[in-house]
Amino acid sequence: MQTTERAAASKSSSVLEIKPVGEEHREWLNQKMKEIWSGRFVVTRGVAYEPAKLPGFIAYERGIPVGVATYHISDAECELITLDALSQWHGVGTALIESVEEEARKQACSRMWMITTNDNIDGLRFYQRRGYVMCAVHINAIDQSRKIKPTIPLVGNYGIEIRDEIELEKYLWCWIGW
Ligand SMILES: CC(C)(COP(=O)(O)OP(=O)(O)OC[C@H]1O[C@@H](n2cnc3c(N)ncnc32)[C@H](O)[C@@H]1OP(=O)(O)O)[C@@H](O)C(=O)NCCC(=O)NCCS
Repeated sequence: MQTTERAAASKSSSVLEIKPVGEEHREWLNQKMKEIWSGRFVVTRGVAYEPAKLPGFIAYERGIPVGVATYHISDAECELITLDALSQWHGVGTALIESVEEEARKQACSRMWMITTNDNIDGLRFYQRRGYVMCAVHINAIDQSRKIKPTIPLVGNYGIEIRDEIELEKYLWCWIGW
């Protein structure tokens, strides 16, 4: 199994180990996703995904899982389906999104994109700081998502009503041989 090690942000002396999700991680991932996302499924643009069945990466710090990202590749585009730092603000999210971008490039994707909700102010900050641009706001899209997944809470971060899907994108640089 391929394992990469990345130094976490320079302010921290710890080292993160990033491993691709393997079959041995599926049960853990299933439990974690249910805990974090109030159910087995997440819904983006009207499509339900089961993150525990998707490809992804897990971040470890001293052998303990501290974050996970899952993605879905289709038509040379990579959608980041979930990104969760179990321990925030010390480089886990950055290391995971960089691993997904690297994999997307390897698989010749030209575009990375993701959906987040209008209440996720910290997520919007995080993605924009990493070069992602808001390319669409799908007003009231969560009404549709709730028909598929009724457990989506009404109120989210900072007491903001969860209502809209915000789509962010980044075009990936792909070398085409001469
Ligand atoms: C959004 C999210 C994924 C970000 O992950 P994270 O691990 O907290 O993010 P990072 O630590 O990599 O980076 C966040 C900031 O902390 C800073 N940071 C990193 N290491 C640090 C350290 N040791 N000390 C202080 N700050 C540090 C980074 O520089 C970064 O700042 P920047 O954005 O200005 O560059 C995470 O907060 C999360 O899981 N949120 C809940 C779920 C979610 O919203 N997911 C995304 C939408 S689906």
